[in-house]
Amino acid sequence: MSLSNLTVDGDRLIHRLEELAKIGALEGGGCCRLALSEEDRQGRDRVVGWMRDLGLAVSIDGIGNVIGIRAGSEDGPPVMVGSHIDTVRTGGIYDGCLGVIAGLEVIQTLNDAGITTRRPLAVAFFTNEEGARFAPDMMGSAVHQGFLDLDEALAVTGIDGTVVGEELQKISYCGDAETGHFRAHCFIEMHVEQGPVLDAEGTAIGVVEGVQGISWTELVIGGVSNHAGTTPMRMRCDAAVVSARIAVEARSIAEDMGGDQVATAGVVEVAPGLVNVVPNRALMTVDLRNTDERLLQQAEARLFSYADKVASDEGATIERRTLARFAPVDFAPEMTDLIEKIAKGQDLSTRRMPSGAGHDAQMFAPNCPTAMIFVPSRDGISHNIEEFTKPGDIQAGANVLLHVVLEKAES
Ligand code: GLV
Ligand code: MN
Ligand code: MN
Repeated sequence: MSLSNLTVDGDRLIHRLEELAKIGALEGGGCCRLALSEEDRQGRDRVVGWMRDLGLAVSIDGIGNVIGIRAGSEDGPPVMVGSHIDTVRTGGIYDGCLGVIAGLEVIQTLNDAGITTRRPLAVAFFTNEEGARFAPDMMGSAVHQGFLDLDEALAVTGIDGTVVGEELQKISYCGDAETGHFRAHCFIEMHVEQGPVLDAEGTAIGVVEGVQGISWTELVIGGVSNHAGTTPMRMRCDAAVVSARIAVEARSIAEDMGGDQVATAGVVEVAPGLVNVVPNRALMTVDLRNTDERLLQQAEARLFSYADKVASDEGATIERRTLARFAPVDFAPEMTDLIEKIAKGQDLSTRRMPSGAGHDAQMFAPNCPTAMIFVPSRDGISHNIEEFTKPGDIQAGANVLLHVVLEKAES
């Protein structure tokens, strides 16, 4: 068979995705495999089993990243694909998993066709991409590519009071492969768009040119608990009111700035949380993103100065902690051009676009030529059990991935 006619088996790919989705399955669809949970362990075991069945040499590093290598006819840095298999609590079955399972499908397609590539190939999944249990997000890939210190990551405490290093030991995924020095020849991550653009336009392939900047901040506001019936309004120091005003301001800033600026107050917890008690504590998070670093800094400055002022007006204390901060990332033109060329050669419609979500690929971009392939998400829904991508769109994206990998592995 000529290499240019080679295609993946879409049914086999979808079957593996659905098998993985049974682990941590949620009522009504989707799944919950929070990083380093028991469900994450079971999902990891399943994917590692597939890697071994496909003949990959599996290694695990000190933060639990898993890499399966397929030898090439020559040694050297591998052409690497991958993503993550952890999910948010309300996760769909495609986010992250698609990039890993599509990588396995590329390997199986080459195995079945008896093709040995010149360069080695690698399929990887990285620990805690989501950051939903332990911040920052992209934790495993950041450690892997030398942007986050291993010991610092292992010491992170999660939203449930657990510690990364201890949870990693519990699930038996603390390996001995070194972190920080692995360099791929190039990195390609296939992912669902998680936004509405491709689906709305009926475009098959998103050629991702970069990832927008991400700023995650935790704010803890201290007020004074008092009786809800007897405390005059002028004498209140209400932590919940301060946090509510900050949440509303975050949205106003994003609306006022327009463009690509987005803002989300995803966590708001007030204590003591009783009907007749003025709240004395609020913990909240704000997620700010923009494709332009200068504008992202403006959004941060506006939000932080508002937060300080509204807390001071209420007589409340306020503490601020950065949970994650990533500047916008540009992908390599040689990679985006190749993805576009291959997609067009397969008669697929394409559009160039930035990624609104964070991805492991952004940790590779400074160290090797990197890019991403997006496929449509129905109605742009993600981080939601309703997340869905049509099997035909998955197959099309995986065929683009296959031929990008082949071209990079032979060149
Ligand atoms: C990861 O999914 C993120 O963009 O928050
Ligand atoms: Mn993802
Ligand atoms: Mn996600």
